[in-house]
Amino acid sequence: MKKIIKGGRVATAADVFEADILIDNGKIVQIGQNLTDAGAEIIDATGKYVLPGGIDPHTHLDMPFNNTVTDDDWKSGTIAAAFGGTTTILDFCLTAGEEKLSTAVEKWHEKAKGKSAIDYGFHLMIGDLTPETEAELPQLLEQEGITSVKVFMAYAKEFQATDRTLFKAFKIAKDLGAVVMVHCENGSVIDELVEEARRAGHKEPIYHALTRPAELEGEATKRAIELAHIAGAKLYVVHVTCKEAVDEIIAAREKGYDVYGETCPPYLTLDQSALAQPGFEGAKYVWSPPLRPKYHQEHLWNALKAKQLQTIGSDQCSFSFKGKKQLGLNDFSKIPNGGPFIEDRFSILYSEGVAKGRITIHEFVDMISTSAAKIFGLFPQKGTIAIGSDADIVIFDPEAKRQISAKTHHMNVDYNPYEGWDVTGEPVSVLVRGEYVIKNKEFVGVLGSGQYIKRPLKTVAAEALNI
Ligand code: URP
Ligand code: ZN
Ligand code: ZN
Repeated sequence: MKKIIKGGRVATAADVFEADILIDNGKIVQIGQNLTDAGAEIIDATGKYVLPGGIDPHTHLDMPFNNTVTDDDWKSGTIAAAFGGTTTILDFCLTAGEEKLSTAVEKWHEKAKGKSAIDYGFHLMIGDLTPETEAELPQLLEQEGITSVKVFMAYAKEFQATDRTLFKAFKIAKDLGAVVMVHCENGSVIDELVEEARRAGHKEPIYHALTRPAELEGEATKRAIELAHIAGAKLYVVHVTCKEAVDEIIAAREKGYDVYGETCPPYLTLDQSALAQPGFEGAKYVWSPPLRPKYHQEHLWNALKAKQLQTIGSDQCSFSFKGKKQLGLNDFSKIPNGGPFIEDRFSILYSEGVAKGRITIHEFVDMISTSAAKIFGLFPQKGTIAIGSDADIVIFDPEAKRQISAKTHHMNVDYNPYEGWDVTGEPVSVLVRGEYVIKNKEFVGVLGSGQYIKRPLKTVAAEALNI
């Protein structure tokens, strides 16, 4: 069925203008004044922003990690994402040792099948390259439409790659036209610091932060940058948290290196003191890299504003306090790493960014949607409001006031790191390819209706797209 969104203020990464939008067959087919169509449903957006659906480039749904599994799967995770204004996620497909990479991708398709309420794609993790997995890569990425691979420089027990593997991943990605996403922390030195702290009898959550200093994020970021540069590859640094890493990214970009960076809502808004709360409360704030002392936040905001960091990922990786975070009650190193952010990514950035005057509405749209679409090969199908693009649209009330709480959120976790925070602005209705998923703040979507989006390799021309 056709729809016309009427009377709203359309905001893209470049413009804001008052216009109607005609949607047909899941696509935006006309943008203009006083549009009419006898058969179309009219959606009144008076007083609202009409925004491109959010693209979350960093999620971990139904992911086994730290001897447990995340509490949000593809059902609760994508419903929560939709409530929060996100219409596409890119989730990390984990791989293991010598297992065929295609088997891992099949597993990830199974996880999402029949569950996803919004569109999605995968990034493919590279851990331990064998001659067999290396041989599989070109055809697999092409067939699956995967334009991005992920390498971890931390988590020795689970995912950490050697520098040699990281370098090989850069070389392969360069040849295939893929971007390499890297978790930049010096995992080996962190493990040594963790052991030292445990030997000294430290058990509390704050030691998670104290054993992962910002210098080790900066050092790993610099190493990844240089290895990517030697290989001629495109590097995307995930979850940047600190001045040390930002400085390395800026220096590289100023030399013309192909480096992009993502940060996440908690690094912009919460700080290390959250981990020092009494009564094991700090465990709710354990993820990696850790929260930093507050002064780092202004470096992240400034880098976003200057487009030296381009995207906001949620790094959704949720573990309930009861039973999951509590696994580390007597040992901070056993607290599962990760937090629930898929739902509030959009609202936190709008409220703390646009409503507080730190960024413009264009910069917001760019960070929450457009830049990720460009870097990961979804643009212009997604990430903007333009004729021919998918009608992935958020009707957003910029005046709405809401208080964040685990009692009202839609994620399958028993706490929210932003409990009690007042935010300005709220998605009212959310459409994916022209169909309502959220209508007047109610979920009306269909589980399994989210489509797997294949992305074309070698079209990731970020520099041409002015990122
Ligand atoms: O603590 C985190 N961030 N958990 C998810 C895995 C990762 O490092 O992104
Ligand atoms: Zn990570
Ligand atoms: Zn992550």
